Amino acid sequence: MNTVTIENLTKKFGNTVALDSLSLNIEKGKITGLIGADGAGKTTLLRTIIGLLLPEIGEIDVLGFNPKTQKDELNLHIGYMPQKFGLYEDLTVIENLRLYADLKNVPHDFDRMLEFTTLAPFQDRLAGALSGGMKQKLGLACTLLGNPEFLLLDEPSVGVDPISRRDLMKMVREMKTPDTTVLWSTAYLDEAHSFDTAVVIDKGKVIYEGKPHDLGATTQEFENKVIDLMGGYKKEESLIAKNYSYNAPDVELTVEADNLEKRYGNFYAVKNNTFKIKKGEIFGLLGPNGAGKSTSFKMMCGLARPTSGTARIMGIDIKKDPEKARSNLGYMAQKFSLYGSLTVRENLEFFALAYGITVLEKNKKVNEVIEVFGLKEYEKMKAEELPLGLKQRLSMAAALIHNPPVLFLDEPTSGVDVLTRRDFWNHITSLSKKGVTIMVTTHFMDEAEYCDRISLFYKGETIAIGTPNELKQKANAKDMETAFINLIKESECQ
Ligand SMILES: Nc1ncnc2c1ncn2[C@@H]1O[C@H](COP(=O)(O)OP(=O)(O)OP(=O)(O)O)[C@@H](O)[C@H]1O
Ligand SMILES: [Mg+2]
Repeated sequence: MNTVTIENLTKKFGNTVALDSLSLNIEKGKITGLIGADGAGKTTLLRTIIGLLLPEIGEIDVLGFNPKTQKDELNLHIGYMPQKFGLYEDLTVIENLRLYADLKNVPHDFDRMLEFTTLAPFQDRLAGALSGGMKQKLGLACTLLGNPEFLLLDEPSVGVDPISRRDLMKMVREMKTPDTTVLWSTAYLDEAHSFDTAVVIDKGKVIYEGKPHDLGATTQEFENKVIDLMGGYKKEESLIAKNYSYNAPDVELTVEADNLEKRYGNFYAVKNNTFKIKKGEIFGLLGPNGAGKSTSFKMMCGLARPTSGTARIMGIDIKKDPEKARSNLGYMAQKFSLYGSLTVRENLEFFALAYGITVLEKNKKVNEVIEVFGLKEYEKMKAEELPLGLKQRLSMAAALIHNPPVLFLDEPTSGVDVLTRRDFWNHITSLSKKGVTIMVTTHFMDEAEYCDRISLFYKGETIAIGTPNELKQKANAKDMETAFINLIKESECQ
């Protein structure tokens, strides 16, 4: 039995073909994973299935309904978690759950949800004050309320830490009935083996459909096969790094965090963060959701005032001379923070001028980053309309458009496809070879291996610091994911 039957579906936006004569069946009671490159059509497909978008051509049947004409009837049977889930930021965690429970007419029984999402201790916190990953978990919990027959989840695990990612999958598996169908889109290929069926789409077409194991038994094999299907990855010289030149004082320690602390009421978001980063180092700040990574980034950029402690960028104290310190750094925030109503090109032009690039150089530089980050065909699109992975490319381009000697990247690769992730890291490692200092955070443990040193951060404190190999040794683990899990558990027991 199929929950969804799609035949020859075509959906265009202007001249762009988002879905190209796509045919697909989604089996009832199964968890189907939807994998694809940035802009491959994942979100368009989900939105078409529930009737939010109307296709030009093609037939579609969902639970016996035609989404083109029976959207409202169909909606009663589905749970949809869009990429930007509509949490009420001015309501607390528990108030959001109550509100969604009332909308769906289900009892206020949230204990299991709160336990699974580890949000129980934070139920009275405003949703707006949650970390990025905590918001994702709350969004998923709200979507699961009422046990809908068909769950459509658009990248539910973006920004969710590796431990919680497993928990989310477990939560969906345990909460679903044998008849519940789940369609789960993702850029995390380590999740693929938890799906019953994997569907890979590219340029609006299905290019693989089958058991994840048939494509590759291990994550690495699976990833390589997906890359092959998408046309293969060829590492090229990073043009960004090649053309990168900066003026900066020659200091050995380019970034220093000195007893940084941030308190909200009685809660310590960051208790004590102290580290020193050398010129040209790639320093990874890793840790579970809510550990205090973004709060540390914000304090170090002068965007949040530390309760105590300070940071120095190129030797300049961020508290004493925030403007001068900031002029030395490029910051890519976790939350998309560019101008949604400006086009891709306008955003880049704005940042180029704001950072003091001359009008004469501006066009050259903007053209260069548009080219390097594959934004050419999107340059006239409004930033808010971009697929998630392309938003990330644009944010990364904007963060380094003024050639700063220090780059702060808060989850640059979250929601980015597997090919582009390799590209991003190619730029990052090439820039570091040119002496650019990079502080980065990620929830992809394979990426952690590219860091020269890692600080593992948990509940506002550093619990381990060292090279990837040192951390693996310390945790008696073969890979970074196991090291991450072991070190967190160990610290939990202390
Ligand atoms: N304004 C605020 N009021 C209360 N608590 C806050 C506020 N801002 C942040 N917090 C809390 O501080 C903690 C750290 O949040 P932060 O965003 O730094 O985490 P993170 O490590 O970046 O997590 P993630 O991996 O999910 O992005 C969280 O528990 C968060 O809810
Ligand atoms: Mg964060």
